[in-house]
Amino acid sequence: MNIGLLGCGVVGSGVKEIIDSMKDDIRISKILVKDINDIDDNRKTTDINELLDSNIDLIVECIGGIDIPLNYISRALNAKKNVVTSNKKVLATHYKDLIDLAEKNNVTLAFEASVAGGIPWMENIRHAKRVDKIFAFEGIFNGTTNYILYNMSQKNIDFDLALKEAQALGYAESDPTDDIDGYDVKYKCCLSGNAIWDTNFNLDDIIFYGIRNISKNDIAYAKKNNYIIKLIGNGQKYEDYANIYVIPTFLKNDENIANVPHNLNCAKLKSEFLGESSYIGQGAGKYPTAHAVVQDILSIYENKNLNFSTSQKIKIMNDYSSNFYIRARNLEKFNNIIQEKIDDETIITKVIDLKEISKLVDKDTFIAEVKL
Ligand code: HSE
Repeated sequence: MNIGLLGCGVVGSGVKEIIDSMKDDIRISKILVKDINDIDDNRKTTDINELLDSNIDLIVECIGGIDIPLNYISRALNAKKNVVTSNKKVLATHYKDLIDLAEKNNVTLAFEASVAGGIPWMENIRHAKRVDKIFAFEGIFNGTTNYILYNMSQKNIDFDLALKEAQALGYAESDPTDDIDGYDVKYKCCLSGNAIWDTNFNLDDIIFYGIRNISKNDIAYAKKNNYIIKLIGNGQKYEDYANIYVIPTFLKNDENIANVPHNLNCAKLKSEFLGESSYIGQGAGKYPTAHAVVQDILSIYENKNLNFSTSQKIKIMNDYSSNFYIRARNLEKFNNIIQEKIDDETIITKVIDLKEISKLVDKDTFIAEVKL
């Protein structure tokens, strides 16, 4: 099988290394690079047509971003090539178009690496749902923010320093906004929900918050009250609607998911027969992500069916109520919903609808769900 690799950065170079060390009948034949100065191997080219016109069977997309990958993936599918991607952003944004295009051209579009990196999450979704009815998922889907929260708590350091460390270790996106403001987990929850419930959720209906505004005070409050804060992605399916939301969460410190350390991810399914099943592992980084890409390549080589359907129409309602921890300079607008005042800037709300509290939150507020 001849593979065309789009992008040879962190993940792409990992894929190249793994495949180059494997058996001869699966090989990287062409590699697309951005700059002519990056051509240091006779397989490398800056011309996408060389990958689309030649006898390439499968395209691996590890470029990142939206517009260019959308163009290349669409052209590859139309050229009847199987596609494997680690790019959650392009896929979550154009899910139905790309899934439909793969189906129309009778080829496979696989994306194991795009959610929870090295954890076989899509594989376990397929595995569980062929026997069982999955009614919810939740998890730590971002390694950068887990690293930040864990290190702020363990080493008593500031957010900025913990972020710099995560960037130096190569976990963060090139623009860490996606990590720290919750976009990355939003994409991953959208893809998880789509795969679990054979649908095509509207990305814009997902309520999401990140950890940009967290301070040492929030970590200290959590510790004092036997909580651990994690950025949690949630999905729940009811008869004819779903809730999909991303929010920092105060978890009781004896819960398994609260104790997932360092940059690890934890993805949990809740289904009727199996109950809760959790999968913990590396969700970011060169080799774990490349491992997941190569797993998809091997599955396609073995003719396994990896495609998901979009046949179910399910609307995100976010009909969800809970208590929320709020830190904001001006608490006045929260006056009617205070359950407990912690200090001049911090409260815990009464049980309130997620959609209602979202209307009161601005870009400087730190909001977290509290699992009382
Ligand atoms: N920046 C992402 C993370 C990479 O930290 O989890 C993997 O998607």
